Amino acid sequence: MNLIKNKPQIIAMQEGGKILRSILKKLKAMIKPGLMTMDLELEFLRLCEEHKVIPSCKNYQTHGLPPFPTGLCISINDQAVHCYPDKGQYLKEGDSIAVDTVISYKGMHVDSAFTCVAGSADSETERFIEVTQMASSAGIKQAIAGNHVGDISYAIQTIMQLAGFNVLRDFVGHGIGLSMHESPDIPCYGKKGQGLKLQSGMTLAIETLACQGEPDIDYPGPDAWQTKMADGKKFAIFEHTVLVTEKEPIILTK
Ligand code: MF3
Ligand code: CO
Repeated sequence: MNLIKNKPQIIAMQEGGKILRSILKKLKAMIKPGLMTMDLELEFLRLCEEHKVIPSCKNYQTHGLPPFPTGLCISINDQAVHCYPDKGQYLKEGDSIAVDTVISYKGMHVDSAFTCVAGSADSETERFIEVTQMASSAGIKQAIAGNHVGDISYAIQTIMQLAGFNVLRDFVGHGIGLSMHESPDIPCYGKKGQGLKLQSGMTLAIETLACQGEPDIDYPGPDAWQTKMADGKKFAIFEHTVLVTEKEPIILTK
């Protein structure tokens, strides 16, 4: 698989990234106590139609799992990656909510996620989400040609752990483009200078997968998609699709 994207592919991802950013902005504005998470899903699917983009997660199949049922992944509090929005699920004051999704435009995927709070939360939750966003920015800053994947991983892990939090081990960021998940894996833990050397033209979905407590994951659902933090503490994610260049990384979904 060619990890270096050509000009038309990059332009498609730039356009798709802009659309995804505008969709996520609209979804974020809906978040408040009392919201049913399925209403975010319905609005997301409507916005995909309006913008003529494909919700890539819906019916996505991998690892022999059943097709992913929704276009959005939504996690509340201790729910972790790949949880579904639900008709019976309502946000309460102080809940944290992570929204993660992928769209495809002109055959190219872009992936982005954010975490926020419904209403206002306790100061420790607010700090956790802020630190996760800072770690995400620091990781993205390392996505420069000549650096290694490990430079991204190290930046993310260091910031989360210095602040007293942790990173998931069981899930990772990834290359993205013609497929939702391409090489390389981009863990949230690692050492400077290790892993694949980055080249100009690579497109990476850099995911900061963070936890307030221990990184162990449980699979509580009827299938192996939905996950939660085993210790019941909070999960947060920030994710952007980024184009590697010789200088500054270009965040396609920001
Ligand atoms: N950012 C998530 C990931 O890369 C998006 C998941 S979409 C799903 O895993 F279809 F796999 F759920
Ligand atoms: Co992703």
